[in-house]
Amino acid sequence: MKEKLKIAILGLGSRGLDVYAANIPKFADKMELVAVADLRRERVEEARRLYGIAGENCFSSAEEMLEAERMADAMFICTQDRDHVKHAQAALEKGYHLLLEKPVSADAEECRALLETARRCKRRVCVCHVLRYTPFYGKIKEMIEQGAVGRVLSLQAREDVGYFHQAHSFVRGNWRNSDETSPMILAKCCHDMDLIVWLTGASCKSLSSFGTLSHFTKEHAPQGAAARCTEGCAAKKECPYDAEKIYISDHKTGVRFTDGWPVNTVVGHPTEESVREALENGPYGRCVYHCDNNVVDHQVVNMQLEQDITVTFSMCAFSARCDRYIKVMGTLGELEGYLSENKIAYTSFGGEKQIIDLTKQTADFGGHAGGDTRMLGQFADYILTGARSSSITDLEMSLESHYMALAAEESRKNGGVAVHLV
Ligand SMILES: NC(=O)c1ccc[n+]([C@@H]2O[C@H](COP(=O)([O-])OP(=O)(O)OC[C@H]3O[C@@H](n4cnc5c(N)ncnc54)[C@H](O)[C@@H]3O)[C@@H](O)[C@H]2O)c1
Repeated sequence: MKEKLKIAILGLGSRGLDVYAANIPKFADKMELVAVADLRRERVEEARRLYGIAGENCFSSAEEMLEAERMADAMFICTQDRDHVKHAQAALEKGYHLLLEKPVSADAEECRALLETARRCKRRVCVCHVLRYTPFYGKIKEMIEQGAVGRVLSLQAREDVGYFHQAHSFVRGNWRNSDETSPMILAKCCHDMDLIVWLTGASCKSLSSFGTLSHFTKEHAPQGAAARCTEGCAAKKECPYDAEKIYISDHKTGVRFTDGWPVNTVVGHPTEESVREALENGPYGRCVYHCDNNVVDHQVVNMQLEQDITVTFSMCAFSARCDRYIKVMGTLGELEGYLSENKIAYTSFGGEKQIIDLTKQTADFGGHAGGDTRMLGQFADYILTGARSSSITDLEMSLESHYMALAAEESRKNGGVAVHLV
């Protein structure tokens, strides 16, 4: 392997261009971006201009890039959920190592086939479980391993999706319909399933799940709701999901205050004018009660892990902020905290509660609480030198989280029956 890792990115969307291409230069001693591909010409052109990619290494489709001679050591696969496996298979056959976006696939057979190809081609495949690389979960992992809570016997975890995030991604946006993408428990929560297995060091033996799409349906449309938020909707004033509020005037998410996520997925380089036009014509201006969505808006999963560990997990759209909460309970103590706060409350039984404040140790919490960039650096080390941090999530490890999520979906669809995994 050469000293610097050459990277090709397939799919220049939010992840490929805005996150990975933008952060690769922070690791200029370890890796360089040399090739890109996307169906959208303007995204390819932007990558070429910003990162100086040679014209012959700019491709207008996955197929074109994957037919060409291998021009990099590793490929980042950042296309949409249903395309990951076909793109990953072809890239492995060409000899690329992979950083593969999650979810790998919503089809367990496809997951197994990809693992088979990776083994045959003897290539490394790391799946983007970015939360493993955050200071918050990294510290929790370290404390559990050091015995801070004794023997872990129970874990509670919650994903507060955030009302606007649900509306953006899972009602109006890319992950709204599981027939086209993935069930929400896989798309959103394969990270949580992965964290549960990683933190406890125990596999899931069986689980059961309940959940429904209860609110974002036409039956719940307020009186006078228009098909689009821009079409004189009579329910606008009271509706927190109003697209003009979320994408234009809200002080955290609106274009008047930010040009980042989520408004930059409505339109690239957003201005108030271009956002308004996109809301008038595109998917993000649709009434949340009149979309073609079918994924749940709340779901719970109960799990029995090896070593007698029990886990409860809850994912819910109806929260003010996007956050994750975790509480780990062991025989000698407990720890708990919110990811967004980067603080862990730790009590050794009989002792005083201590607050471990990670914000005093680093200020680098950008992009998934600091996970996105740390993952890139550790991936480069892994491919270049074989140095494998405990956060690195090989395909085989990642698939455990996928099988759990798919089992949860099966259980949910069958009234909460227990599904046995091992
Ligand atoms: N790791 C995480 O925490 C995390 C977070 C968000 C999204 N994701 C996952 O990352 C993936 C990408 O998400 P995104 O938000 O960047 O999506 P996106 O839609 O913004 O980007 C996908 C890109 O792929 C391009 N594309 C599609 N088909 C192509 C083809 N045949 N050839 C070339 N380009 C093609 C599209 O034009 C688009 O630019 C998804 O699978 C998503 O679930 C992961």
